Amino acid sequence: MKTLIKNGTVVNATGRGLADVLIDGEKIAAVLAPGSNLLGFDVAGNVDRVIDAGGKYVIPGGIDAHTHMEMPFGGTEASDTFETGTRAAAWGGTTSIVDFVVQYAGEDVLERYAAWQQKAAGQCAIDYGFHQILSDVQDSSLTAMDELIDEGVSSFKLFMAYKGVFLSDDGQIVKAMQRAAMNGSMIMMHAENGSVIDLLVQQAVAAGNTSPLYHGLTRPWQAEEEATHRAIMLANLTGAPLYIVHVSAKQAVHQIAEARDNGQNVFGETCPQYLYLSLEDNLGAPGFEGAKWVCSTPLRAKAEGHQHHMWQSLRTNDIQMVSTDHCPFCMKGQKDMGLTDFSKIPNGIGSVEHRMDLLYQGVVDGKISLERWVEVCSTTPARMFGMYGQKGVIQPGADGDVVIYDPNGHTSIGLDKTHHMNMDYSAWEGYEIDGHVDTVISRGKVVVDDNAYLGAKGDGRFIKRGLSQYLI
Ligand code: URP
Ligand code: ZN
Ligand code: ZN
Repeated sequence: MKTLIKNGTVVNATGRGLADVLIDGEKIAAVLAPGSNLLGFDVAGNVDRVIDAGGKYVIPGGIDAHTHMEMPFGGTEASDTFETGTRAAAWGGTTSIVDFVVQYAGEDVLERYAAWQQKAAGQCAIDYGFHQILSDVQDSSLTAMDELIDEGVSSFKLFMAYKGVFLSDDGQIVKAMQRAAMNGSMIMMHAENGSVIDLLVQQAVAAGNTSPLYHGLTRPWQAEEEATHRAIMLANLTGAPLYIVHVSAKQAVHQIAEARDNGQNVFGETCPQYLYLSLEDNLGAPGFEGAKWVCSTPLRAKAEGHQHHMWQSLRTNDIQMVSTDHCPFCMKGQKDMGLTDFSKIPNGIGSVEHRMDLLYQGVVDGKISLERWVEVCSTTPARMFGMYGQKGVIQPGADGDVVIYDPNGHTSIGLDKTHHMNMDYSAWEGYEIDGHVDTVISRGKVVVDDNAYLGAKGDGRFIKRGLSQYLI
């Protein structure tokens, strides 16, 4: 199958220009001057399909490098399966995800990895890769890290919170970091001081402060800043590269920026919820409504300026990329486990479908440039996690993962509108986007077009990733 996308404005992280894009089979074969006849060869007359992208942007497919499909967590399981979650991602212009293999204390890392490969096999609508979560860091976990790199899993997430579930102590963290410094892999960190949070939670519940708002109030920015600083120091000690996930506090951004200024390989990711939602407006909503937005790190107080700072940091590259941390739970039967005690609300928000749109709105609102949109949503994730060249760019030889985005279109987000995630509410109800995902092409196959889904379960293939392309 040969497809020619004509008359569009191709936008890469490096710039934009009018160009035609030829996809041959699964790969981009050429990026051509508009309407070109190659040495007298009529390109448009020799393809199976021509898509007119006049007046629209032609961008590399989105890469969401932080999702949790079917994740067992908080006494339940994330409500999107690999099938439903990746289909929703495709609807929103995301053509690759990197999900997390979970290892709890005492479990064998490679056995867990094999189990996750089995879960995802034949289910995904788009391409998918894996990071590996390490909780206790056994000696066998260290050798597993080396083996997983050969399998294409080159990043490992550790947690400084969730005692008894995921938390690794500082010694365990250093052990994993020492290994990463040797084998070239990336350490990803959930940076919150778990012991402090556990104490504050205990005190709040004992005092009868049980509403969802207290989820935010018991996970203060100081706990995020302190853990971020500690993680950076441990990475400095060991020489490991460090990627801080779901950064929400401006003080944590300062820590990351300072480490980067000092030449350390430290990177930061934020998520749409920290760019748009807040402690006051969302977590503090009347009754139990705030449960919809219980996630960790928590939404921060708008009045403290975190949101504004996060957009600014994204523009200035103090924060490098945006993932969703997609970890959806339904209100009925899942979030309501914490009806009388916020600490029992499963932590997570679902956004995989809306990341490209929500970040595009940042372009419309003058917060980031068009090229920066592509960079933070596709190109940087590809480079950060060893996929660049195959993913994250429109150039000959890259996978035919292409989104045609209409800047004159409109998207109304809401449960009865644009919503394909397996959740009984939308965390983004009522958001209006001045743009629209028109066509989504995944490895040369049109999977979304004209508000119709044309893909199938199993279209997605495992991405065998290399080492991060930001490291020397
Ligand atoms: O609330 C969140 N973030 N849930 C998913 C697990 C994690 O820490 O990323
Ligand atoms: Zn986390
Ligand atoms: Zn996460």
